[in-house]
Amino acid sequence: MKNTDTTIAKEEMQGQSNCRTGKFYEDVICGLSSSPKFLSSMYFYDAVGDKLFQDLMACDEYYPTNCELEIFSEKTAEICEAIMGDGDAFDLIELGAGDASKSTYLLKYLLEKGADFSYLPIDISSNTISYLNITLPVTLPNLQMTGLNGEYFDMLKKASVISNKRKVVMFLGSNIGNMPLDVATQFCADVRSHLSAGDMMLIGVDLKKNPATVLAAYNDKEGITKRFNLNMLERINRELGGDFDVSQFEHYPTYDPETGACKSYLISLRDQTVSIQGKSIFFAKDEYIFMEISQKFTVAEIDNMALTASFKPAVHFFDSKHWFTDAIWVAA
Ligand code: AVI
Repeated sequence: MKNTDTTIAKEEMQGQSNCRTGKFYEDVICGLSSSPKFLSSMYFYDAVGDKLFQDLMACDEYYPTNCELEIFSEKTAEICEAIMGDGDAFDLIELGAGDASKSTYLLKYLLEKGADFSYLPIDISSNTISYLNITLPVTLPNLQMTGLNGEYFDMLKKASVISNKRKVVMFLGSNIGNMPLDVATQFCADVRSHLSAGDMMLIGVDLKKNPATVLAAYNDKEGITKRFNLNMLERINRELGGDFDVSQFEHYPTYDPETGACKSYLISLRDQTVSIQGKSIFFAKDEYIFMEISQKFTVAEIDNMALTASFKPAVHFFDSKHWFTDAIWVAA
């Protein structure tokens, strides 16, 4: 995965599944045999899905990436001063580092200021870590870095073995929104349990805003989000020998301004039976498959999540439209 937003969480972060095997086939069969049907959004990101997500980030309606880039490029000094604290040495850890395009703003500034830190990008994709191992030493020759390839919590454990320096953990791109609220809060509490008092979390979160703006971001005119969703069915065809006719499924996004839940579904356009490695799955006309949640928050809800996860909310950095925040939390 080659961009900061694509690396989302693993199975335990999805929260919508009782399937615990972690295998693509078993998760798909479990999700499609459930009522209501669901697929786990972690499976969006094969090579085709990565490319579609990159296209999505460049499209007019999908605002979160640009908002967060604006924060990192315009508020670099303020963010860095906040994470540098008293100037003691620290490890800057990034969960789902992707191409590190946002964090590179911070890395450059910290190097210019002579900050005593190491960068520890964590990613489930070995390609991503290899890419960072090759590119970052070229663009930032003085950077001390250790790429960690693996699951977030295994790698956080490893990071604490590698050094006992203060930790600053970044989780950007509103990836937290791809978990149901209770799972998101538990995820933050789990991060906290790998930290010591005074360590920090820098978390990027998409905010509640005009519902039309949110909905448009998940229903772009070019139909990239639609293709992104349908690609999961095509991936099942490619990798699991499924026989989905994707023209018989329709992308249906919703946004509820009260709860901040933006959800996407695929709707079956007719009664149809799909076979996946000999297993038949029946879809009734108008039946839905739940594909993804992209939860939006108020500032108060974010602060509350921090407190519930035993962090103290310290500061918010907003883009000029106040559509997105990067918040710093201090481990209590
Ligand atoms: C990766 N994640 C934060 C994106 C989001 O906005 O929820 C994934 C996405 N799905 C459809 N569009 C973007």
